[in-house]
Amino acid sequence: TDLYAVVGNPIGHSKSPQIHTAFAAQTRQDLLYTAQLVPLDSFDSALNKFFKHGGCGVNVTVPFKENAWRYADEFTPRAQRAQAVNTLKKMADGRILADNTDGVGLVRDLTVNHGVALNGKRILLLGAGGAVRGVLQPLLEQQPAELIIANRTLSKAEMLAKDFADLGNVKASEFAALDGTFDVIINGTSASLSGDLPPLPASVLTAGTVCYDMMYSAQTTIFNQWSLDNGVQKVIDGLGMLVEQAAEAFALWRDVRPETKTVIAVLRGERR
Ligand code: ATR
Repeated sequence: TDLYAVVGNPIGHSKSPQIHTAFAAQTRQDLLYTAQLVPLDSFDSALNKFFKHGGCGVNVTVPFKENAWRYADEFTPRAQRAQAVNTLKKMADGRILADNTDGVGLVRDLTVNHGVALNGKRILLLGAGGAVRGVLQPLLEQQPAELIIANRTLSKAEMLAKDFADLGNVKASEFAALDGTFDVIINGTSASLSGDLPPLPASVLTAGTVCYDMMYSAQTTIFNQWSLDNGVQKVIDGLGMLVEQAAEAFALWRDVRPETKTVIAVLRGERR
């Protein structure tokens, strides 16, 4: 049996084993996917051991994304751009390929699952940390008319805009300086973790704006609730993105693309 795992610390809450086990059953792939708690100082030795004993691929979560970057031998172009990886694959020659499937997961959830077109649209991306960096290339590949990165610390947004300027019309802004309205607003800040809202002026919203929170939780996220309270009609949380980034990793490993809609529906149902 081919072995896969999600590695992190802590790891108890991870939904990845459930998601990948469902994908495997659905596509009749003979594999075992587990969650592995790795001690903070033992990433390399844990992975060496895993890949030596039947391990074919891993997903990497907090706090090991940097470790995974350093562990890999080769990178997909989008992982290279993101400078962050969430998926490793052992290739036929034994070398380790790194990918970042978060951005394509976000784009697929928006465009395929929710029918939200990004092409020609005005997009606002909140935050300028690792999560945002990871999704910029796939978002810009959709060719939005304009993509603005707003961040509390402007310099970080400016750096990102500069790094991705060759891929499309991308600019940086402070929250207070935002003007006009947006078709799609994506919250990639970690503000919700501390129960905070990014300081976004409500003037950027219209009833037709789609608000997407890359976080998800059992209740409506604080950002999505704020959006609803200000008249937005369509809000989406990050559960679909989670399943879609997993599907992309599964496809990289197994060369078969699992169906995601029923898996998303099951996870949604369990949260109630
Ligand atoms: P992640 O890996 O989740 O992206 P990160 O790299 O630490 O984590 O980035 C966190 C992002 O959330 C940053 O853009 C941060 O803004 P700063 O760059 O100004 O620090 C943003 N963020 C965190 N808490 C926030 C808050 N309460 N309000 C607004 N933005 C916040």
